[in-house]
Amino acid sequence: MDVLLCGELDADELHAWRGALGALLPEVRWLDPAQARAAAAGVQAAVVANPPRGSLLGLPGLRLIQSLWAGVDRLLEDPTLPAGVPIARMVDPAMNAAMAETALWAVLALQRDFFDYARQQRAVRWRQLPQRRAEAWHVLVLGLGQMGRAVTRALAQRGYRVSGWRSGGAASDEAPAGVAGHAAFDALWRLLPQAQVVINLLPLTGATRGLLDARFFAALPSGASVVNLARGAHLVEADLLAALGAGQLRHAVLDVFGEEPLPPQHPFWQHPQVTVLPHVAAQTDVGSAAAMVARNLRALRDGRPIEHLVQRERGY
Ligand code: NAP
Ligand code: GLV
Repeated sequence: MDVLLCGELDADELHAWRGALGALLPEVRWLDPAQARAAAAGVQAAVVANPPRGSLLGLPGLRLIQSLWAGVDRLLEDPTLPAGVPIARMVDPAMNAAMAETALWAVLALQRDFFDYARQQRAVRWRQLPQRRAEAWHVLVLGLGQMGRAVTRALAQRGYRVSGWRSGGAASDEAPAGVAGHAAFDALWRLLPQAQVVINLLPLTGATRGLLDARFFAALPSGASVVNLARGAHLVEADLLAALGAGQLRHAVLDVFGEEPLPPQHPFWQHPQVTVLPHVAAQTDVGSAAAMVARNLRALRDGRPIEHLVQRERGY
């Protein structure tokens, strides 16, 4: 089988993917974009990491696009994406576990004032703040998919009061044990006033772009915190800065930004109430992720169902 492998990968990353995938699928010829153009009719699948627009044009035999990213928003923005070719996204338990670690770290640091103590250290200030119990903290997780479920489970196990929010209606079939509740869209505005921390793990779609805005922040209790681990465009940066400045929000932990890398002059870098991470909340683990890609390519070869298909019309 001929497979195009391309996208936002530096030479080391490309080498690692070729090594891991080659070991699992020795029969596959891994082609770069130029090789794929030369062998166009024979290319059956593309394994891609946010490839440049137009990369998947002119491949008449293409039967699967496998994303190496969990979020497919940038892939779906490509107007030249071949219609009708199934798209699968990355789903990997190792990534879910990494996301749960990041979320747990952020919530613990907020609950126990560790970001404040870091600020105090920089100011050479010794001041003990009242200690808060996890059980008294309500965390709202937006998105109860692969990442959201792993995060809610980890937080509930740690004793936090956890609510989750998803699009699928009032049914509670997928709520992990210990998660207080999850609900449909209209419930968001009822959940926000109870949340000391909101963690965003939604996919970026037309319905979720800009959701974390002035109205959203105003619906939170005064002094709440926001943790954005999904996509920068979910959050209106100017509204966040205004809500922090007004004291409506206490702190923001941000892993994703409208422009990445975050430009050096951006106010978030120096803001005392903002913690910046360089899009590392859950990095793709090549070892375990390659196994998922290999399963899908074998399924394609053998005519079995492909895992983790994206529904293009809903955008995730
Ligand atoms: P997923 O499994 O597709 O889950 C998405 C969840 O969001 C589902 O529960 C879905 O509801 C819910 N949802 C979608 N649209 C909604 C809406 N309009 N209103 C309410 N809920 C909505 O996705 P995932 O694997 O958990 O990943 C989530 C996102 O995390 C990715 O899209 C990506 O942007 C981000 N991510 C970030 C990093 C990082 O390092 N920062 C790493 C990986 C992923 P239903 O359950 O009802 O469908
Ligand atoms: C990372 O942000 C991903 O979507 O995999």
